[in-house]
Amino acid sequence: MKIKKNKKVLVIHGPNLNLLGKREVSVYGKTTLRELNTLLKKEAKKLNLSLETFQSNSEGEIVNKINSSLGKVDFIIINPAAYTHTSVAIRDALLSVEIPTIEVHLSNIFAREEFRKKSLISDVVKGVISGLGIHSYLLALKAVKALIS
Ligand code: DQA
Repeated sequence: MKIKKNKKVLVIHGPNLNLLGKREVSVYGKTTLRELNTLLKKEAKKLNLSLETFQSNSEGEIVNKINSSLGKVDFIIINPAAYTHTSVAIRDALLSVEIPTIEVHLSNIFAREEFRKKSLISDVVKGVISGLGIHSYLLALKAVKALIS
């Protein structure tokens, strides 16, 4: 009998998300990054997905992480944070590895300042979930399960 391996999901948190729970709480909520990652791990376990989480404040490190996921990761969930609006490098990295990706945001980027309404990755990802706080990530994980199965 063949043993099925769980599909591997990589969650990438961009810059300043290390300060979740302390940073602009009225916009990003009270949940810390550690708490969010714990919730994601629990949800992934329920869904029989294998989960890795990664946070970096550095664009290059995020690009390296996406590059090194080639052939190792089945799905990416990414909140590029401020790099959403500026990073051609992250866009190109996602295009290079061709790993299906969901873009998530805690806040509704379309209901905020003009400069946040433009994402450089939205048109190269499978879908976008924005504005539902930590549920944006949890729903993305459920969507991954549905799309993978
Ligand atoms: C964010 C929205 C971005 O505009 C902002 O720079 C962030 C977080 C969000 O999750 O709502 O850092 O990606």
